[in-house]
Amino acid sequence: MKKRVIITGGTKGIGKAIAFTLGEAGYDLLLTYTSDDEAAIEMCNALRSQSTCDVRLLKADITNWASINQVHDYLIDNEWTLDALIFNAGLTYRDSFEEMHPEEWEKVFLGNIHFPVFLLQRLINLIHRGGSVIFTGSLMGIHPHSVSLAYGVTKSTVHALVKNLVKFLSPYEIRVNGVAPGFVDTEWQKKKPAEIRYSIENKIALQRFCRPEEIAGIYKMLIENNYFNGEIIVADGGYSYK
Ligand SMILES: NC(=O)c1ccc[n+]([C@@H]2O[C@H](COP(=O)([O-])OP(=O)(O)OC[C@H]3O[C@@H](n4cnc5c(N)ncnc54)[C@H](OP(=O)(O)O)[C@@H]3O)[C@@H](O)[C@H]2O)c1
Repeated sequence: MKKRVIITGGTKGIGKAIAFTLGEAGYDLLLTYTSDDEAAIEMCNALRSQSTCDVRLLKADITNWASINQVHDYLIDNEWTLDALIFNAGLTYRDSFEEMHPEEWEKVFLGNIHFPVFLLQRLINLIHRGGSVIFTGSLMGIHPHSVSLAYGVTKSTVHALVKNLVKFLSPYEIRVNGVAPGFVDTEWQKKKPAEIRYSIENKIALQRFCRPEEIAGIYKMLIENNYFNGEIIVADGGYSYK
């Protein structure tokens, strides 16, 4: 049987690149997303046309607790078990410290931390022994920045979560790792004004943003290399050295 993987936020950006990398390598995929049906259907059709993978879509918002049962029930109804679970979808909230609202703060924590933890808890018995869980952290969880307090704190929590989960998942023989991307050229980054992008490029030793497919290869390696466990793979083009 082909290997099966869930990618949250799998229809755009990094998630889409992971879907293409894994789909072309023969994995079957369940991709979640939240709002843009057109983009989701379009990328799904494109992936189907260039691979033999079974790719499915499920609208499941990571800021809605009900999505946990929805994803679980989809897997049960379709008799799907998993070889890997990739937590990719994430959110940010950019209000200043003075203007932060508790509701938005909570929403970022729900989407970036609480949802993945409790989705993992719900799906744990559907992940095969030898399987793998991958979280998406961020360079911003390592080098604090001034744009979004909730984002930086939740992403550093993601990194801590990966380390802490190792012992909880080892009885299931499931590995857990994280990827901490620097600046990846997705819609998220493309929205930034040219002068900000220029300033970011100047802080990266490689002088450029990462291409989504470059990040995607790291997720595939973490699924396939059975000796990685509890690692956070930082891919920042040498941001730390400039
Ligand atoms: N891009 C970067 O430079 C960068 C750097 C470090 C870390 N990251 C992390 O990488 C992850 C992906 O970022 P990206 O840049 O690839 O984002 P993106 O291009 O904006 O893609 C976001 C994907 O997630 C889905 N999504 C958004 N909100 C969702 C929600 N509430 N529930 C379920 N799915 C949702 C989107 O579906 P719809 O379009 O239907 O909403 C889409 O498929 C995030 O965790 C982000 O923090 C990104």
